[in-house]
Amino acid sequence: VGGLPGVEVLGAAPPPSLAVAAASTAGPGRGAGAPATPRRRRSRFAPDPGREGGTGGGDPAAGGGGAATAAAVATTPAALSPAAALQAERDSLPIAAYKAELLAAVATYPVLIVEGETGSGKTTQLPQYLLDGGYRCVACTQPRRVAAMSVAARVATERGVRLGSTVGYSIRFEDCTSEETVIKYLTDGMLLREFLSVPDLAAYDVLMVDEAHERSLSTDVVMGLVKDIVRFRGDSLRVIIASATLNAAAFCDYFDGAPLFSIPGRRFPVDILYTRAPEANYLDAAAVTVLQVHASQPAGDILVFLAGQDEIEDLEAALRERTAGVGGALGELIIAPIYASLPSEQQAAIFTPTPPGARKVVLATNIAETSVTIPGVVYVIDPGFAKQKAYNPATGMESLLVVPISRAAAVQRAGRAGRTAAGKCFRLYTKWSFTHEMEAQPVPELLRSNLAQVVLLLLSLGIDNLLAFDFLDAPPPATLLRSLELLYALGALSPAGKLTKRGRLMAELPLEPLMAAAVVASEAYGCSEEVITVCAMLSVSGAVWYRPKAKALAADAARAAFSRATAAAGAGRGDHLALLACYNSWRDSGFATQWCYEHFVQVRSMRRARDVREQLDALLDRVGVARATLADAPDGGADQAPVLKALTAGYFSHACQLTKAGLYRTVKGGTSVHIHPSSALYRTERLPRYVLYHELVLTSKEYMRSVSEIDPAWLREVAPHYYTEVDVDVVGASAKMPRALGRRA
Ligand code: CDP
Ligand code: MG
Repeated sequence: VGGLPGVEVLGAAPPPSLAVAAASTAGPGRGAGAPATPRRRRSRFAPDPGREGGTGGGDPAAGGGGAATAAAVATTPAALSPAAALQAERDSLPIAAYKAELLAAVATYPVLIVEGETGSGKTTQLPQYLLDGGYRCVACTQPRRVAAMSVAARVATERGVRLGSTVGYSIRFEDCTSEETVIKYLTDGMLLREFLSVPDLAAYDVLMVDEAHERSLSTDVVMGLVKDIVRFRGDSLRVIIASATLNAAAFCDYFDGAPLFSIPGRRFPVDILYTRAPEANYLDAAAVTVLQVHASQPAGDILVFLAGQDEIEDLEAALRERTAGVGGALGELIIAPIYASLPSEQQAAIFTPTPPGARKVVLATNIAETSVTIPGVVYVIDPGFAKQKAYNPATGMESLLVVPISRAAAVQRAGRAGRTAAGKCFRLYTKWSFTHEMEAQPVPELLRSNLAQVVLLLLSLGIDNLLAFDFLDAPPPATLLRSLELLYALGALSPAGKLTKRGRLMAELPLEPLMAAAVVASEAYGCSEEVITVCAMLSVSGAVWYRPKAKALAADAARAAFSRATAAAGAGRGDHLALLACYNSWRDSGFATQWCYEHFVQVRSMRRARDVREQLDALLDRVGVARATLADAPDGGADQAPVLKALTAGYFSHACQLTKAGLYRTVKGGTSVHIHPSSALYRTERLPRYVLYHELVLTSKEYMRSVSEIDPAWLREVAPHYYTEVDVDVVGASAKMPRALGRRA
């Protein structure tokens, strides 16, 4: 077993039978016959002379077990009762052989690092083993909401209990746990919030920080805090850091030489094929490759990795178009999307077994890389891109952009093809690009994020010296400084850098600091009801408007009516108030489904917004923000400017000014930004002189998504420390503002 210097390695020696199986099935050579490479159309792909088979960790023995898996699968015939089949499946997982050893290790070491191939059973089995081992309550963190929900559902099924009883999950705005919950899957962000109410996490006997290799922002912070509480919880807390087979040694070092428990993986060899030349349009290339695989390859499902929901929807449409009417000899192509914001009912489709003769193609974001295991995948199509958050401390701007993935991620993606049989991975990039252009490892999120929320949380936990906080990778000091400045401008910090009362309130709200500040400010403007509605609608804003191609005109007209309604009421034009008008109008219909159909609004998003709104409404009470609505104002709510003003009190750093050339630039910093085509203000006749955006998306340009007109005078008023007279050309601007907008200033 490849030794890790200075790291105690436990349980890593596979049983001899596994090692033998490894030698015969998964060596680096060309395995048995390598059937059916795509011979007819070889032009696109050049197969790599090597195979990525076996282990992820450079240990030839650990990667074996292909034969063992095949045997295990063969002993789970359909004839077994569902419960017995499920149990057999559990027993056949790679982790099952190590249950006793794992429990012994957990009992011995306060912090244990567990690494194992994706699908080996860490997430679903370990918490159950711990219960069997006598621990009473286990929390397991996940970087993604979808993973927390789907894994909890799976474990509830395995234990034959109702989801939300002994097994549950907790994600933002959705708590599916109860008094009796003993296995709780929760997002890393939710666990961070729990530190605020119970700083030593007294409710849990074991905390499992899962998917640690992902290095999500919240996971990194959780690990820093956990390191601290392990000391004073003593024997009453056990910590497990679980990771895919990537860089686990770094966690051992970080936790002062905690031992590494390596679960030998099982993986079938995967043939890697690269394109011969770079692809100009990877979505198009992906569509063609899906169809080629479907037409020419033996049975087996396809998994395509895409950068986001928009790409998934585009590819889905392209595939439906191209397969329409193609039937007969070619089996059915079942298209199943999976991404973080997909409603859970629809996620079930990816786990549904493919009927004989058909082929499933799963269109996934990198959620399917390590956190969700999809059975039956034999072919992986990897365009090599993912959507990532990027942060520029110089401008203070955070945006989402599509970037090339790392080599480590590419290896993970390919590995998804070899879970149940030998597979193939079609990389839609060249081998040269893989070796020369891709980074070896992904950059941890902490190093490319705006840290205002983290800083606010740490300060509320009493951690004042941020520079001394023991991060796995220390954030750039410039980023920390920026965050402090922003929190100060938001009124969350005093000039001395201490948390203010407002800052405490903001930390209590499970919202990003800018939104939290807007909610807190809404009290003073008498519109907290409206602001939480806007906040709830923004959380689903990517999926509110429904625009079927055949009825595009009617859909556009329906949407424009919401903007007109707000304009008529005399407030700023744009997306925020249109979202508010849409929600209120739905509410007035009695939350009718029919209303949604008639107004081309997605009913599922609206229901989700209502759920989120209910949660926020309850939070207002908890943090003591007075509930108030503009409907109680003397004008009956005709003037909606206060809503935008409250939003400006949070989002003032997102203010942009129209230039003479008809373009926008940020008031502070002067970066060029553009109105996103999805905005109501896109292609508007008379562009507002000043706007406020909710978020930025970077594609070919920096796009502002969800944009509204504001009065620049508000900027000086709500953020005098942030904006000077020079920044905001108030006199010139106000003269041109619609009167109603400036009125309540
Ligand atoms: O965490 P790790 O990647 O090691 O494995 P896991 O997520 O615990 O998955 C173990 C097994 O449970 C896999 O074979 C999955 O196919 C199965 N599973 C499932 O069927 N449905 C889920 N929602 C999650 C896992
Ligand atoms: Mg897992």
